Amino acid sequence: MTRIGFIGTGEIAAAMVTGLIGQGHQIMVSERNSGMAAALAAQSSDVTIAPNEQVVADSDVVFLCLLAEVARDVLPGLPFHAGQSVISVMADLPLADLRALCAPAEELAITIPLAPIAVGGSALPVYPDSPALRALFGDTDLIIPCRDEAALNAHFGASALASPILEQMRTGAAWLAGQTGDGVAAEQYVATVFAGFLRSLAENPETSFDDLLDSLATEGGLNATLRAHVRDAGAPKTLVDGLDALKPRLGLAD
Ligand SMILES: NC(=O)c1ccc[n+]([C@@H]2O[C@H](COP(=O)([O-])OP(=O)(O)OC[C@H]3O[C@@H](n4cnc5c(N)ncnc54)[C@H](OP(=O)(O)O)[C@@H]3O)[C@@H](O)[C@H]2O)c1
Repeated sequence: MTRIGFIGTGEIAAAMVTGLIGQGHQIMVSERNSGMAAALAAQSSDVTIAPNEQVVADSDVVFLCLLAEVARDVLPGLPFHAGQSVISVMADLPLADLRALCAPAEELAITIPLAPIAVGGSALPVYPDSPALRALFGDTDLIIPCRDEAALNAHFGASALASPILEQMRTGAAWLAGQTGDGVAAEQYVATVFAGFLRSLAENPETSFDDLLDSLATEGGLNATLRAHVRDAGAPKTLVDGLDALKPRLGLAD
């Protein structure tokens, strides 16, 4: 049993708590946001609500799920202690600043959860590698240790692929629904097609995106034709330009 605390009970904390419920841990969430905290506590007796000070004082592992500017104000007053693990999920708060804000806690790490952590099977890039994160999520999620903080920050950038790619799927599903008249089935179709491709990648590490694209590259086929159209319109370059534009914010070199 691990005593796990969450400072900041917003969207991502809720997903992580949901993923941890039912595994024999004591989970303490901070009072804000009160509606989310109450909903989580109502979900399971594993979850209790406490002020920030108590969450930090009584936890073996503390997840920091605040906005970075809020964290800079709130963390210095909290009773972090040596021997405790502190894991931040915050973009925009470098490890060196985190060390100063959470002293004397020494085992610090930054990771990047996304909403599917609620059901498991998500990816957790982390720097530095964190035994506490592995112990809590290693059986259910893929832990990806990064070689340095810049590599971790590049994963923050790549995590932003989620909404533009989901938007492309939504656009394609809406096109399909326009032809069939069934929006629900259209979204299910697109989601299921991609879930199948992604499952085959996740289950076979030796399979690459190139392999999948090769299997869809029949000359003159519908896939090859649409891919060429989208590529010629500049979509891949636009995506890389957008990722590059995030580099200054992520502290990445040009
Ligand atoms: N959402 C994601 O998918 C995702 C993924 C990876 C990383 N992150 C990172 O996770 C962090 C939180 O993101 P989020 O989407 O979960 O944001 P969010 O839903 O806005 O959650 C932040 C929470 O912090 C609470 N808070 C504000 N001041 C507080 C204080 N003094 N003490 C305790 N809690 C306080 C807020 O409560 P009130 O609502 O009452 O103000 C809010 O519920 C961000 O740094 C973000 O970069 C998010």
